[in-house]
Amino acid sequence: MSRIVYVNGDYLPEEEAVVSVFDRGFLMADGVYEVTSVLGGKLIDFAGHTARLNRSLRELDMASPCSDEELLAIHRELVARNGIEDGLVYLQVTRGNPGDRDFVFPDPKVTKPTLVLFTQSKPGLADSPAAKTGWKVISIDDIRWGRRDIKTTQLLYPSMGKMMAKKAGVDDAWLIEDGLVTEGTSNNAYIVKGGRIITRQLSNDILHGITRAAVLRFAAEAQMVVEERSFTIDEAKAADEAFVTSASAFVMPVVEIDGVALGSGKPGPVATRLREIYLEESLKAAV
Ligand code: PDD
Repeated sequence: MSRIVYVNGDYLPEEEAVVSVFDRGFLMADGVYEVTSVLGGKLIDFAGHTARLNRSLRELDMASPCSDEELLAIHRELVARNGIEDGLVYLQVTRGNPGDRDFVFPDPKVTKPTLVLFTQSKPGLADSPAAKTGWKVISIDDIRWGRRDIKTTQLLYPSMGKMMAKKAGVDDAWLIEDGLVTEGTSNNAYIVKGGRIITRQLSNDILHGITRAAVLRFAAEAQMVVEERSFTIDEAKAADEAFVTSASAFVMPVVEIDGVALGSGKPGPVATRLREIYLEESLKAAV
């Protein structure tokens, strides 16, 4: 059975879904996106993803394609039509198709945004075997643009980073700017030292992770100490443990950085506990 995707108001088999070659998402990466996970057929942290989408649109002066209620209805319809138990919903909004290539933004009254959504089925997403062994990462230079807080579709450098990690035989890369860790290629980065959880403060330098916000809230509720500050890659290599968070990996332990094993070289107790709490609490609040 072919997957049903959503394009500008229509639910279509993926083979029939089309977007113009003049779409600014295609020509200019003039688009923003969100990835929301689905567990047990329900959406995790939907309200957070919608709020961040609206912020990304505002920051780029891009029109909103529809209301938050309509977005929720589309997400649910796609999950139902594709029979998704565990997986992801990908959403992308672009500045649309002005009918030609031009650097100047088109008039939003004339050119409507393009809205595309599709699902990815990932049975057993929450029981990933990698969470039991942890990820190994390498550090690479962060040469991305200066507005990483906006979730744009400009993902070439993160893709290159993943390829560098793959070539090095590891799972991901941590991005370094001025000796400090910004974040992972597609996740937020944390270290744990002496029981304190340390993660970079929010700014334009990193994506304001929806999973990050939830995890920091749950950590505070569990009386864990959280320090939101920058940390160096050397500090990370000397940490007791480390982990990353994202909508698709949830809380993923990191056990090695640039060949240096952290602690016992196995997922640490803080990351393991936070993963359990995150999954438990998010499932309770899922819609
Ligand atoms: N990536 N930092 C970056 C650069 C990201 O691309 C992501 C998410 C995160 C984590 O954000 P959140 O917790 O809201 O998922 C941090 C998604 C999952 C992706 O591109 O597939």
